[in-house]
Amino acid sequence: EKGGWDSFMDKEIHEDPAAVQRTLIGRMDDHGTINLDEIHIDEHELKMIDKIIVVACGTASYAGMVAKYAIEHWVRIPVEVELAHEFRYRDPILTPRTLVVAISQSGETMDTLMAVRHAREQGSKVLSICNTQGASIPRESDAVLYTHAGPEVAVASTKAFVAQITAAYVLGLYLAQLKGAMFRDEIRSTLQSLKEMPGKIEWILDTQTEPIERAAQRLVDAKSFLFLGRHVGYPVAMEGALKLKEIAYTFTEGFAAGELKHGPIALVEDGEPVVFIVPPKHGRDVLHAKVISGIEEVKARGATIIAVAEEGDQDVERYADIVFWRPACPTLLSPLVDVVPLQLFAMDMAKQKGYDVDKPRNLAKSVTVE
Ligand code: F6R
Repeated sequence: EKGGWDSFMDKEIHEDPAAVQRTLIGRMDDHGTINLDEIHIDEHELKMIDKIIVVACGTASYAGMVAKYAIEHWVRIPVEVELAHEFRYRDPILTPRTLVVAISQSGETMDTLMAVRHAREQGSKVLSICNTQGASIPRESDAVLYTHAGPEVAVASTKAFVAQITAAYVLGLYLAQLKGAMFRDEIRSTLQSLKEMPGKIEWILDTQTEPIERAAQRLVDAKSFLFLGRHVGYPVAMEGALKLKEIAYTFTEGFAAGELKHGPIALVEDGEPVVFIVPPKHGRDVLHAKVISGIEEVKARGATIIAVAEEGDQDVERYADIVFWRPACPTLLSPLVDVVPLQLFAMDMAKQKGYDVDKPRNLAKSVTVE
């Protein structure tokens, strides 16, 4: 049931805050200790893990990229992210101390399931992050951390994505706790910031919906879009590009902002829309300055700049033609807010063009063939 919304996608984007919140519930106590009894892998074995490989496809793989930035920073073990269909057909180096994390909304994606089987055959433990109780991927994994986004009906994944990222953060903080890789206070304050994220997403849904709709009206005839981000903004750019191409059938490319001068800038001409995910100015100043200089470069070539940026960012105000604002939050958690305007934007573009946002052509909700 669409519950008053005109599409499932609209309804499900508005469930982003609840998806994050529900994925946190019951997994930590009031003292900031994470409790994941649901993970049936021996604590001692988890402690010994020295490498993580995330396997997933599409949107779920971008959640995996976010996980890499967070987990490497918090836990100080290497995290690789690989598309499941690539992982499966090369010869990945897996040991009993490798934890393979399979991320899948449906739990039925054949490419990801084959990667899970392959990893287990090689003797690695597999933990899945999944939104569907009892699906094939969680059934065949050693352990599962469910996302509690609720059933996702629209083909384009939205609330499941923010829930996957949330589950990955919880897993990362749990491993940091087990391995003693972070101070207790640091874990506690990160969990506190995480708990505040649903309210911040809510703020975007309340205040940015109209500006985003207007932006879609203005840009509806654009033939292509570039999406750029750095650090955790990179996977967000990839996801923004994927959403727009899959439901609005617009040619998009997402890439790391640092790549701009290594090729893609050749595409920028007068009026080309370029979407920038701008990192917060506080904390990691260097990143912010780098992204702003990227904006200046494409602006000088006549691009139309669309920015997702932290409220009050004056550098962005100066250069961007259109800004989607989001509240301040720690850099590593920012994908949870940054992606929301891009989900809304893709939906509005598809609606403007008169497409069925819930059922894009040529796509199925779960891809059960290899
Ligand atoms: C994008 C989308 C797909 C899925 C991908 C993996 O909106 O829906 O890219 O993310 O097919 O699906 P799951 O997560 O079910 O394994």
